[in-house]
Amino acid sequence: MVFGLRRFSPRRFLFFGSAFFVFGFLVYSLTPFTEPLPPYTGPHEVGILDVETEVKRRVINEAKLKETGERLFELETLAITLYYPVSMPPTPRNNQPHARPWLPQPISLIGTGYARMCHIYFPPLQAVFTFLLWFLGSKTVIPGHVDAPLISAPEKVLLNANDGPDGMAKIMLASQEVAKGENEAAGELGDLGTLPCVVFTHGMAGMSQSYSHYLGSIASHGYVVAAVEHRDGSGPGTIVHYADGKERKFWHIQVQDIESEPPMKLADLQKAQLAYREAELEETINLFRRLNAGEGMDIRNLKPESPEESLPGFKNRLNLSAITVAGHSYGATGALQALKNAPSKSMPINGGIALDPGKGSGPLNKEIDVPLLVMQSGQWTEKQTQFYGQGWHFDVVRKVVEGMKEGWFITLTGTAHPSCTDAPLIVPWIMKLVTGTTLNPRVALKEYIDVSVEFLEFLRNGDKKGVIKSDVTSPTGPLGDAEKRGKVKGKAGADWEVHVVPQT
Ligand SMILES: *[C@@H]1O[C@H](CO)[C@@H](O)[C@H](O)[C@H]1NC(C)=O
Repeated sequence: MVFGLRRFSPRRFLFFGSAFFVFGFLVYSLTPFTEPLPPYTGPHEVGILDVETEVKRRVINEAKLKETGERLFELETLAITLYYPVSMPPTPRNNQPHARPWLPQPISLIGTGYARMCHIYFPPLQAVFTFLLWFLGSKTVIPGHVDAPLISAPEKVLLNANDGPDGMAKIMLASQEVAKGENEAAGELGDLGTLPCVVFTHGMAGMSQSYSHYLGSIASHGYVVAAVEHRDGSGPGTIVHYADGKERKFWHIQVQDIESEPPMKLADLQKAQLAYREAELEETINLFRRLNAGEGMDIRNLKPESPEESLPGFKNRLNLSAITVAGHSYGATGALQALKNAPSKSMPINGGIALDPGKGSGPLNKEIDVPLLVMQSGQWTEKQTQFYGQGWHFDVVRKVVEGMKEGWFITLTGTAHPSCTDAPLIVPWIMKLVTGTTLNPRVALKEYIDVSVEFLEFLRNGDKKGVIKSDVTSPTGPLGDAEKRGKVKGKAGADWEVHVVPQT
């Protein structure tokens, strides 16, 4: 019948199409569809800076992209987002400074990237993905002060003075130094004014800015955090900017997109990606070194419209013996891998934080000599899968951590795999619906942040506080008897299960 034809006539399509959009707008503007990101949890205001710099070019793997014949794993530039404490009076909660939109720009790059991940190459359909992203994410901004000067050395000492036995002496020294000029003070306070550093590596399909609340909060507790924007083909899409003004778009890649001899299997692709990520971690540490050596002046920021005024202020301000690597999911697998043979000259890392180490990102590295904190979400611990013929994932992780000199393995109950990202803060009800979490997302993040900071502080001074001070409460987790699953309360009141703690 003609009925079917009439139903899909262009006019009808347009009519319903525009009605849908108008309706969407109405719903969007009338309901609190998305929530703003909360202020960071620590005492300092937070500076934010996107940095992209040239690095020594190298080819990590010869594989090429079928579509264009371009090399896939050639490292050309390093892109990171820096989160760091700044000297500024606290801003009122309802008037947070806006560092930048939460969604990377242009949104179409990311929308197209996610569409390609779902094997959709038809541009109008890709536009639907962009629209959805824009619809859900365009109102959200990352709080922070763009390119603000790093917290001054005396101020840092003053604020940290009460956490050591010689606190009073430091306060005296710092207040004398405050009286002198800033630059002189930084020099004379020496090591005291330096800040510990964290390098963060994101998960599969994630982006460096997907974790802004977790990372910004760690920075607000006095850490310089660099979130790497990986160009290994694991994210939805990214743009490499060259010094001559040219740029190259880089999408998500899957095995079938690759041309190589012999053909790459999934395990080969993961190996290449993890090696690429490790090179990017090394370059991030190298950038910390350059900034600390006072080369900030010579660093050209290739990120379009991103300033670079604050970079010289990092001179002599980083504690290069206190660099910790952290990661989520694929990034956690990568962080564990980067800890192989650490600390070394190229990887001077003092410890690691692994959030939900990947279940399908390749086997986990067991050779780790520095302290490690593994935090799993309730969902990750509860749902068991076989792990590369080595047994249940939970058991494999437990054995890896047990085999270390200083390892913690804990689970935050009531959470799901994305609970440490910004997503549950921005669209709480969607995330609750999809992942079935029972813990309030803000509480979950607060717990992840608190325990991470407690662990980072332990790395600096050897003191155990909070959840990492607890004994084992649930040795076998979901694999043992339900009544043997004890819990311990975190600072924000949520329940943690403690599976492994250091022997000593
Ligand atoms: C720098 O890091 C090392 C290693 O964690 C630590 O022992 C030292 O106290 C740190 N310095 C400062 C000023 O925090």
